[in-house]
Amino acid sequence: MRDTAKFGAETTASEVAEGIDLSGKVALVTGGSSGLGQETARVLAERGARVILTARDLPKGEAVAAGIRAATGNQHVEVEELELGSLKQIRAFAERFLARHPTLHILVNNAGVMACPPAKTADGFELQFGSNHVGHFLTTCLLAPALRRAAPSRVVSVSSRGHHMSPVVFDDIQFERRPYDKWLAYGQSKTANVLFAVGLERRLGARGVHANALHPGGIMTELSRHLQSEDWQFLQARTRGMKFKSVEAGAATSVFAATAPELEGRGGLYLEDCHVAAVNDAADALDGVKSYALDPQNAERLWEVSEKLVGERFALSP
Ligand SMILES: NC(=O)c1ccc[n+]([C@@H]2O[C@H](COP(=O)([O-])OP(=O)(O)OC[C@H]3O[C@@H](n4cnc5c(N)ncnc54)[C@H](OP(=O)(O)O)[C@@H]3O)[C@@H](O)[C@H]2O)c1
Repeated sequence: MRDTAKFGAETTASEVAEGIDLSGKVALVTGGSSGLGQETARVLAERGARVILTARDLPKGEAVAAGIRAATGNQHVEVEELELGSLKQIRAFAERFLARHPTLHILVNNAGVMACPPAKTADGFELQFGSNHVGHFLTTCLLAPALRRAAPSRVVSVSSRGHHMSPVVFDDIQFERRPYDKWLAYGQSKTANVLFAVGLERRLGARGVHANALHPGGIMTELSRHLQSEDWQFLQARTRGMKFKSVEAGAATSVFAATAPELEGRGGLYLEDCHVAAVNDAADALDGVKSYALDPQNAERLWEVSEKLVGERFALSP
């Protein structure tokens, strides 16, 4: 039995996965073309999984996959094109994926955009909610047959402590009746990531498909591409001088959620620093999960809204 109590903010993804054998397993990592997705894919490949990473920029993804194959010696690392801001592209991707991979053991919903200027997806959804949540909702629901066939299998929802900034505002998700606020939009999308794990767990947990959400920490990646200097000041003040993690440590909680034997059979949780986090509803909380993000009624409401947005119902349960 390993000692997970020693895992913390500085533990790396490779350390978390040490000794875990993923040979014969199929893993899909969205947004594998940079940052945490790239490192998550690398470590899953290092443990022997067949890894498919998605990229919206294929040459960028191919270069990352080639680097992972060279670094790990695992030749089963592939790239698939996926733009989460297009329902049409997601459907085409899911069809291609299911034709090639009847089983999917690990799905890491990692891709994300943060604090971008106002913009919409191809289907007219606010960009952060549309790509961070709706895109992953449709991808996961379409791939559910492969997750069920592979059970026990796992879905990992990469959320953020940014979920503290906003619940899902069901009365105006798309910012039609309030001014667009890039941080409230990011927070809302990241709360949706947690609620999606709760809703998915309720539907598939009994079938051996478990879903958990997590905050990876604060890590310097391309996620900050839209930030201006005043945004950095805002974040530093909000987090009271947060200490940044390395990318290797930033991917650790994703890899923990994807592989840890300690989480076998468990779902609907929110993790940080490789541990299950507690509810923390204090206004100035620096850690923990908001109760609105774990609320089963909010999760059900979000599920219904998401089905309407994608125009398809997914009962998933038997
Ligand atoms: N870094 C942090 O401090 C931090 C903190 C909390 C949570 N997170 C979460 O961690 C996850 C990974 O972020 P990161 O820090 O690794 O950022 P990153 O380096 O910017 O990586 C994000 C990935 O998502 C992809 N992506 C963005 N929008 C997409 C879309 N519409 N369709 C398909 N792919 C899309 C990007 O593709 P391109 O390469 O084409 O841009 C990239 O591969 C995100 O969900 C983020 O919210 C990060």
